Amino acid sequence: MKGVLQWALQRITGLILFFGLIVHFYVMHYSGSSALEYEEIARRLSSPFWKGFDILFLGSILYHGFNGLWGIAIEYIHSRKLLKIAHTLIVLLAAGLLATGVMVIV
Ligand code: HEM
Ligand code: HEM
Repeated sequence: MKGVLQWALQRITGLILFFGLIVHFYVMHYSGSSALEYEEIARRLSSPFWKGFDILFLGSILYHGFNGLWGIAIEYIHSRKLLKIAHTLIVLLAAGLLATGVMVIV
């Protein structure tokens, strides 16, 4: 059951990334030359919509990337001890990056 949930979430976050990246790319490169200026980014990040978008986007990329990495680890690492270390590293890194990112956004 746990495996099915991870499999489904990998695809759901993949879908969010597909559309999210199109939006992110458009906002960063096609919404005027001021899109990457401090004031403009601060204005965007004061809007609840973009806060929500960025948190969803960040959560999706972290889940997708690290869960994908975990899938690769299961396939290639055969020692239980090494797998446990890989799992701990993946969970700590993902949680640390999520906490840092959310703190930047809110
Ligand atoms: C448009 C954006 C993306 C889409 C639609 C997408 C879609 C997918 C899908 C459907 C899978 C499952 C493949 C399978 O199990 O056969 C997958 C796996 C994976 N994705 Fe993505 N992905 C995207 C972006 C990314 C990004 C930006 C990263 C890196 C941070 C990434 C890292 C991975 C990894 C590591 C796996 C596991 C690969 C494996 O098991 O061999 N993906 N992706
Ligand atoms: C040249 C390409 C890129 C530029 C110039 C860029 C620029 C930015 C900027 C300025 C922000 C701050 C938020 C905002 O202004 O609304 C941001 C946030 C973010 N970007 Fe990008 N980005 C690029 C590519 C990417 C790619 C390829 C990904 C993912 C695969 C990505 C993922 C994110 C995420 C998750 C956030 C929110 C993170 C947070 O604030 O903690 N970006 N980006």
